[in-house]
Parts: sequence; C-alpha cells; structure tokens
Amino acid sequence: MIVAIDGPAGSGKSSVARAVARRRGLMLLDTGAMYRAITWRCLMRGVSCEDEGAVSREAAQARVSFGVGDDGSQTVMLDGDDVTRQIRLPEVDRNVSAVSSFKAVREAMVAQQRQLAAAQDVIAEGRDVGTVVFPQADVKVFLTADARERAFRLPLIPLAGAWCPRRRGVRGDRVAGFCKGRFPVSVIPFCRLKRARRGRAGRARARAPLGAAADAVLIDSSRLTFDEVVDRIVRMMDRVG
Ligand code: DC
Repeated sequence: MIVAIDGPAGSGKSSVARAVARRRGLMLLDTGAMYRAITWRCLMRGVSCEDEGAVSREAAQARVSFGVGDDGSQTVMLDGDDVTRQIRLPEVDRNVSAVSSFKAVREAMVAQQRQLAAAQDVIAEGRDVGTVVFPQADVKVFLTADARERAFRLPLIPLAGAWCPRRRGVRGDRVAGFCKGRFPVSVIPFCRLKRARRGRAGRARARAPLGAAADAVLIDSSRLTFDEVVDRIVRMMDRVG
C-alpha cells in the first residue's frame, strides 16, 4: 500500500500523514526530512549548499532511512546516525530549499524513497510524491488550505521572539488553524505568511514544482477538522483494500 500526500507548506500534510501512519501502522515516509538530512550532511562536512556538484556527490553517498526512537516516535537516520533533531535547526531551514532544487539530489532521494516503499507499506508526504515519486500510489491526496492565500493580504507583525512558532510545534483543532488560542491573533498572520511565500516559490520552481496529480483527491483542510481529514484518508485507504 502506498498513500501519497502532496500539498503546500502549511496545509497540515505532515501532521495528517503522521496521524494516518500511526492509525494504520504504515511507515511515514517524510520526504522533506530526507532533503533536510542531506542538507545537514553538507553542513557537517563543510560543503557549500550552493555548490551543485559537491552537494550532488554528498547525496549520492548518503543513506537516509527512518527508525523508531525510545518513545516510539519515528526518527530520521543519516548513515546510521539519528539526526531527527538536527534536521530542524534554522541552519538547515535556510539551506534545504537550495539543496532540494538540485536534479541529482532529487534523483538520489527519489530512488531511496522508492526502495523504502518497496519494502513496506508507506504513507509518503512531500511536494512531489503523488506526481513524480509514486505516480502509481494506491491513494493520492492533495491537501490544501485557503488560509494560506489570505495570509498575503495581512500585514507583517513581527514580535521579537514570538512571531514564528516552530514549524509543527503547535497543533490546534483545525489543521491549518493552529496557533489559535495559544498565541495572540496578531502572531498568526506572520508565520502563515512565511509559509505561504514558500508555497508560492514552490509552485514556481523548475524542478518538482508543486502541483496536484490529475488523479489526486483534493482535500481542503481549512474546511474540516483535523480528525475529519484523517478519517477521510483512512476511508479512502479502506476502499482500495
Ligand atoms: O516539508 P519540509 O519543510 O520538511 O521540506 C524541506 C524542504 O524540502 C522544503 O524546501 C521543500 C523541499 N521538499 C522537496 O523539494 N520535495 C519533497 N518531496 C519534500 C520537500
């Protein structure tokens, strides 16, 4: 079974994929984490993340996989080392977009993603999993959220130290409506805006641009609760067996 979840940053695809994986005992194939692991490897080895040739060589040599931590949560392994925490560092955030744009890096990661899915049932999450990596996926979802678009019209309100909650650090009862009740309302637009801009850059990029596969089921997470989104995907899985 291969379930593919594509969608823009901020649509909630990571949280949804994690919940579905847990409910159905699938491996969560977090493709963004794989590009982050390559970025971390480059940073550790003093390789410039802008140097396509050098970064491509790192990607060709690196082996990324997923494990299970002491608390049962999924870990990200790079060449046998647990890098789950390191790949979320700001330094990685700043460089991963460049690293993930290189053709050879994408080819190396796509090959590893397919190997992982050949060995077990997976729910794959990322910008190209339904279109490029697993065009034959059993279930394909394109998760979106209109809150993202609204963010463009809102003013920037940076509040020192508080304006941008850590990605995935806050969960609310709505997939795209996190932060509500936990941060001042004025804090929300700015963090969304950052995500929205990244989404726009993603749609415009040359390699693996963000887009829905023709046969993907579109789910707008801003109109549903988190559980409703998860239930919908689980029901789609039940229908295909
Ligand atoms: O979802 P994320 O923030 O962990 O993704 C990290 C980066 O990798 C982000 O710049 C998008 C990119 N990415 C990609 O190019 N292709 C994927 N399949 C997944 C993520």
